[in-house]
Amino acid sequence: MTNQKQSAPDAQAAIEEELIQTVVDSFATCTDDRLKELMQSLTKHLHAFIRDVRLTEDEWNGAIEFLTEAGHITDDKRQEFILLSDVFGASMQTINVNNEVHDNATEATVFGPFFVDDAPQIEIGGDISGGAQGQACWVEGTVKDTEGNPLPGARIEVWEADEEGFYDVQHSDGRVYGRAHLFSDENGKYNFWGLTPTPYPIPHDGPVGRLLESVGRSPMRASHLHFMVSAERQRTLVTHIFVTGDELLTHDSVFGVKQSLIKDFVQQPAGTPTPDGRDLADASWARAEFDIVLPPAAV
Ligand code: BEZ
Ligand code: FE
Repeated sequence: MTNQKQSAPDAQAAIEEELIQTVVDSFATCTDDRLKELMQSLTKHLHAFIRDVRLTEDEWNGAIEFLTEAGHITDDKRQEFILLSDVFGASMQTINVNNEVHDNATEATVFGPFFVDDAPQIEIGGDISGGAQGQACWVEGTVKDTEGNPLPGARIEVWEADEEGFYDVQHSDGRVYGRAHLFSDENGKYNFWGLTPTPYPIPHDGPVGRLLESVGRSPMRASHLHFMVSAERQRTLVTHIFVTGDELLTHDSVFGVKQSLIKDFVQQPAGTPTPDGRDLADASWARAEFDIVLPPAAV
């Protein structure tokens, strides 16, 4: 076998593999071990992809144009790269990796781009809807640790779209609706009025929307209500609850649905007495329960 001339495919593979090694080695001088690990692993996976699909130069140029367009449409209100990460399931996978299954802790899901820091505070039993259109919905539950101890004073941020599928921040006039924060009481209990969630599309008027369209995928998200819950010494939870029976549960555009987060939003016919005596006139309403379990923070 010695001195035998390499076959063309072997010579080709050798050239490709040598390049990978050269690029990997180019990061060897990095003094930040984690950065070195990230760059070297990324190099190997990226080259494996290029070789696996035998990427054409036109395809590579198309990808660069796509990313350039994503850059051009991105500003302080529109983040096309987050959407791209979301529709590849990369956001969701990063969440999975960083929120390891922990006893009975409530599962996490995607943050999304529509959270704002300074949402109004409401009292327990208050209304987050801020006058937005939609069916009134009573949401209640308890915040506990994984041992079952109630967590008083947990900060609960909630946000959602109106029945037209828009968040307040998608309007350019500074209006505030569909968001608030409140604190759990001395028994860890909370409740508030919001809107029964309805489905809406992720922003799809840019390159990510075109990508979804060209592969026959829908931009729609399953109906949901966002939560971010934090308490001293506990891991902060970013999650949503979804609506039992929503037909989008099986094909949420950002892969955010987890079985444990699907809740019954029980319809209450008009005239059904409300938990706090609120008068909803002739309107039907809904109610949902969501108990939240926070694991201990990593030490
Ligand atoms: C959201 O749920 O608000 C969302 C998540 C990912 C992409 C776009 C929107
Ligand atoms: Fe959302």
